[in-house]
Amino acid sequence: MSGIRTPIVCLLGHVDHGKTTTLDKIRGSAVAEREAGAITQHIGATEVPLDIISKVSGDLVKKDKFKVPGLLFIDTPGHHAFTSLRSRGGSLADIAVLLVDVTDGFQPQTHEAIDILQDFQTPFIVAANKIDKIPGWKTNKKDVPFRLSYKNQEKRVKEDLDNRIYEIVGKLHDKGFNSDRYDRLKNFKDNVGVVPVSAKTGEGIPDLLMVLIGLAQRYLETELEFEEEGPGEGTVLEVKEEKGLGKTLDVILYDGLMKTGDSVLIGRADEPVETKIRALLKPNPMEEIRESGSEFSKVDEVRAAAGIKVAAPDLGSVRAGFPIRVIGDRDTDSLKEEMKSQVEDVVIRTEESGIIVKADTIGSLEAVIKDLEDSDISIRRADIGSVSRRDIIEANTIQEPLERAILAFDVDILPEARKKAEKEGIQIFNDDVIYRLIEDYQEWIDRRKK
Ligand code: GTP
Ligand code: MG
Repeated sequence: MSGIRTPIVCLLGHVDHGKTTTLDKIRGSAVAEREAGAITQHIGATEVPLDIISKVSGDLVKKDKFKVPGLLFIDTPGHHAFTSLRSRGGSLADIAVLLVDVTDGFQPQTHEAIDILQDFQTPFIVAANKIDKIPGWKTNKKDVPFRLSYKNQEKRVKEDLDNRIYEIVGKLHDKGFNSDRYDRLKNFKDNVGVVPVSAKTGEGIPDLLMVLIGLAQRYLETELEFEEEGPGEGTVLEVKEEKGLGKTLDVILYDGLMKTGDSVLIGRADEPVETKIRALLKPNPMEEIRESGSEFSKVDEVRAAAGIKVAAPDLGSVRAGFPIRVIGDRDTDSLKEEMKSQVEDVVIRTEESGIIVKADTIGSLEAVIKDLEDSDISIRRADIGSVSRRDIIEANTIQEPLERAILAFDVDILPEARKKAEKEGIQIFNDDVIYRLIEDYQEWIDRRKK
């Protein structure tokens, strides 16, 4: 049977612009509705069903109008996590919310987030957050739709907000996006909706949910169709040691069905590992943890979209960002080849000249490659993993002095590699923010050119 799965939503934005508070608010207002089992806490994700969204958003979302079962929000601590979260087509997120603090405007990571969303072609909306901090703003009532709050503000406060929104609209325009305040837009497909919100007071949060549901429903419906019994496909969010379970994987399942006992392939740059799911675990609610002392309970199966913990043997080499696929009745070898070629499409690059790039996941590697290409920096080889002695040996064969460099995105530099790099005069740049990594390299070039 086919159905429409829950769309996956990620929040992005500059540090402190309110990602976590927004999620907490959404969760909090839903919990406040006191629906039994309303909000499902997943591994690394929170599911808000449609009827809760409909309640929270007052009359803004009429639930019989929508087929989308709800929204699955993923907590992404940074862009880096977002870029690692890939599904087969690109970003794991079906939609994204870009948080912009209206009192702070666009900041470096806001630009970076937009570049990433553009690269992945992820539809997004902007939450113009912290409207309660606009001088003179009055919050008469919490958690209300934006228009109710807005109409109670003094004229100069309204103007102040509108100016700040125009500024965001202008910045988005520079990036090639048409946008406007969401209630002034007719078409969300070619325009980015800007929703004024306060994650603190909840003003505008109903509107945010409504716009998200609408976007998912109208423009993604066909992409959200899935075979409910089809072989499960997911992305590894995190690899974690759990007491009594050993190494486990936190997985976001974005397609199909995953069952205990299923044989799965987990993609690696060299060779996907084959293993068997020993247990699927979901987090227990707070009360149950207190009663049973156990954080997780076992489930037999899980359907997309969901966050789930997977216990299985042989997870040693698995890393965040890797794809995981249930083999089902497919041919293991051809599935392996398919997964390998997907990885290789990104990883293997050999050019005569250029620098060497290392990153920790396929997604981040792809993002770094894209940004380097945009800056006209050529790449000799891009690969996943720590900076090793082998990388230095390769860099040492490069004649062009400005290309005797390794750009390492959030990976370890092995001690022997560092030693050899010093000896041979190979420059290693290491950072966990892409634009800083590239800037550092460019500054180094500029200095050497002088
Ligand atoms: P990082 O995870 O560090 O990138 O930050 P974040 O984007 O998750 O921001 P977070 O939600 O932690 O918010 C940062 C600070 O801003 C906190 O002190 C929040 O209480 C505050 N904050 C967030 N949203 C609002 C808002 O709408 N109004 C006001 N007044 N404060 C807010
Ligand atoms: Mg946060």
